[in-house]
Amino acid sequence: MPTEMKANPGGHIDPEYVFGRNLLIEQIWDRLEQQCVLINAERRIGKTSIIKRMVAKPRKGWFPVFQDLERIRSAEEFAREVYQVVSKFLSTWKFVANSATQILTDYEIEVKGLKVNPLPWKKLLTKTIEDLMAHKAKTKLRLCMFWDEVPYMIDNIRKSEGEPVAAEVLDTLRSLRQEHPELRMVFTGSIGLHHVLASINAAHVATAPVNDMYAVEVTPLAPADAAELAAALIRGEKLSHTDIAISAEAIAHEADCFPFYIHNIAIGLKRDALPAEPQQVSELVTRQLTDPNDPWELAHFRTRIGIYYPKGNDSKIVLHILDALACVDKPFGVNELYHVVNSQTKLLADIESLRELLKFMHRDHYLKRTSSGEYEFRFPLIRRWWKLDRGL
Ligand SMILES: Nc1ncnc2c1ncn2[C@@H]1O[C@H](COP(=O)(O)OP(=O)(O)OP(=O)(O)O)[C@@H](O)[C@H]1O
Ligand SMILES: [Mg+2]
Repeated sequence: MPTEMKANPGGHIDPEYVFGRNLLIEQIWDRLEQQCVLINAERRIGKTSIIKRMVAKPRKGWFPVFQDLERIRSAEEFAREVYQVVSKFLSTWKFVANSATQILTDYEIEVKGLKVNPLPWKKLLTKTIEDLMAHKAKTKLRLCMFWDEVPYMIDNIRKSEGEPVAAEVLDTLRSLRQEHPELRMVFTGSIGLHHVLASINAAHVATAPVNDMYAVEVTPLAPADAAELAAALIRGEKLSHTDIAISAEAIAHEADCFPFYIHNIAIGLKRDALPAEPQQVSELVTRQLTDPNDPWELAHFRTRIGIYYPKGNDSKIVLHILDALACVDKPFGVNELYHVVNSQTKLLADIESLRELLKFMHRDHYLKRTSSGEYEFRFPLIRRWWKLDRGL
């Protein structure tokens, strides 16, 4: 890995500068030999950086394509994007996506003849993939589409074209995966797809739309990799220090090994002309965590609660659970949590509704479980911020 790096929190980083993800990347390539992959992780943890590195340095035999789907608003736009990528890929081998191109040509003729029917996006998407698969055996490389921010796209389509169309896009992709076992796609997203699915009326979703994909969890960096990144930033930003190993470890520890926060610490030390000594790092982090401008973009952990848990008193109960877990230095079992929340609020109907809610909070990366099944904050740093933010 490079030994020097400039801080760039939140910006595009050169794939060469993606620290500590090689093992995970190899695991994803291994999985792709067999099936499609769904990358699920907390915001800002480094999903896009991982897939951009995979696209820049593909495993032998693969032809990866990166597409940011965040800006896509309709099923038609999506089908056209996929068509373009596939056509470009096939043209590398002097092939043409014949039947898909025919659909577009027919449509252009209809538009010229002022017949304004919508583009048959489903047909275009299906034919595009059929064309790809028909030529597959003759191409030397396998195409894999890396689709960033799929849940955003689905949510955008839901908002602009309605639930049935959003559901139909997911269903079509699933049928394509089933009909063409060699087809490969990787989905990533910073809002959980399960929340988007929950907002699509169950009646519109015929089957579980992604349960054939292999779910990969992205965690913060391993401590040694986080320290390596911190050391590279100390050098790159020319931060003063006495012992680089001690400073790097302090930064990695204070950032909970999240690369985004490590970059933020480096840039904060640089801006305030502070040395990268453990004491200064710790004080800077406390200031950043209480900064009203929220440079670490943590407020979403609080503001999204109302959106993620809209039913009845759920969002209030979630606040109580997190407050309780933030204030004690030990994990809580379900019975203890039930007692704590209900002794203060009487909001919980019964212990089963608490179990259900805890399951969702676990899936949404707020909580993790100990080996004995008790609950605690998933990330110590978020717990620290929660306490400060809520003035507990
Ligand atoms: N492996 C890494 N090595 C070095 N820096 C990293 C790494 N991963 C992430 N970063 C830093 O964290 C920032 C956020 O990373 P990235 O955009 O990949 O996260 P994300 O999970 O896609 O975020 P979002 O949820 O906003 O889409 C990057 O701009 C970069 O500064
Ligand atoms: Mg991203």
